[in-house]
Amino acid sequence: MSTRILGIETSCDETAAAVVDDGRVVVSSVVSSQIDLHARFGGVVPEIASRAHVDLIGPVIADALGEAGTDLDGLDAVAACHGPGLAGALLVGVSAAKALALVADLPYVGVNHLEAHLYAAWLEEADLLAPLAVLIASGGHTLLVIVEDHGRYRVVGQTVDDAAGEAFDKVARFLGLGYPGGPAIDQLAAEGDPEAIAFPRAMPGAADFSFAGLKTAVVNHVRAAPDAAVADVAASFQAAVVDQLTDKLAAAADEAGASALVLGGGVAANSSLRARVEALAAASGRRAFLPPLALCTDNAAMIAAAAWWRLRSDGPTPLDAGVDPTLALTSL
Ligand code: KG4
Ligand code: ZN
Repeated sequence: MSTRILGIETSCDETAAAVVDDGRVVVSSVVSSQIDLHARFGGVVPEIASRAHVDLIGPVIADALGEAGTDLDGLDAVAACHGPGLAGALLVGVSAAKALALVADLPYVGVNHLEAHLYAAWLEEADLLAPLAVLIASGGHTLLVIVEDHGRYRVVGQTVDDAAGEAFDKVARFLGLGYPGGPAIDQLAAEGDPEAIAFPRAMPGAADFSFAGLKTAVVNHVRAAPDAAVADVAASFQAAVVDQLTDKLAAAADEAGASALVLGGGVAANSSLRARVEALAAASGRRAFLPPLALCTDNAAMIAAAAWWRLRSDGPTPLDAGVDPTLALTSL
């Protein structure tokens, strides 16, 4: 008998629900993005996100159950992301999950969003062997994690200021390229010269990341040379981000003797980052695991996958547990 879990994700600006069997088989996965609602503000507005989650959560869950051809009776547990994320947004998903768990008499499982990103890898590649060197880079997070085993992680590096995706978004806004900035810069960079401008590679040799200085360097460069080709600025900025991310990923993988390099988070969609990680893995005899975009960006299948392991190791989460907007990934 398989264990079927409904996962719910509402930590930021995606309302998502999914049904996953045994933490591995995605039976349905529905993601409703709010990008259009936030685009004109150039970033996610927490209050707008919470209200949109309230409107969308019911239909999204109904869609996920409908696509899976199941009702609540067919489930074995209900899971929701309980942090980190926006407090009001998290509360919507967690409240919905608890309500369903109560009416259907099912266990509730609260899931750490960052742990869930790690589990996205196993959804596609069940035979990935630890240790894994995983880079999670999104609009809210930049994290380098060595996965020793299920539930055993070593966070070896994080950003000391902006997240990598945030840097893409801020630089794109400054260059007038719109929101979200990552895809816009990625596209424009293809027409530019990545070596045109020598932007700084922050914190060489350290495991932590920093992107605020790079963003300032781009602003200063464009103000000093307003006629610089925007494609060259985009390509040179992107090269500086990708160099920083991959240098630290490679060093962490070497130090841990990792068998594979894994990407997660929205920035994993970046074409230059993906190509570089593939090349790095090939050069060091490791596997590269670059999940499809739908699993890199926020989704509920990864929540249900992580919940399956958590339910087995820790049992259900008490219904009086709340949300934790600053929840960290527990180190070994
Ligand atoms: O994981 P995600 O969908 O949401 C969270 O932030 O949790 O990541 C969104 C971030 C945005 O900052 C966006 O600009 C960035 O991922 N992104 C990219 C690309 N596509 C999305 N960054 C660089 N290159 C891309 N192709
Ligand atoms: Zn995320």
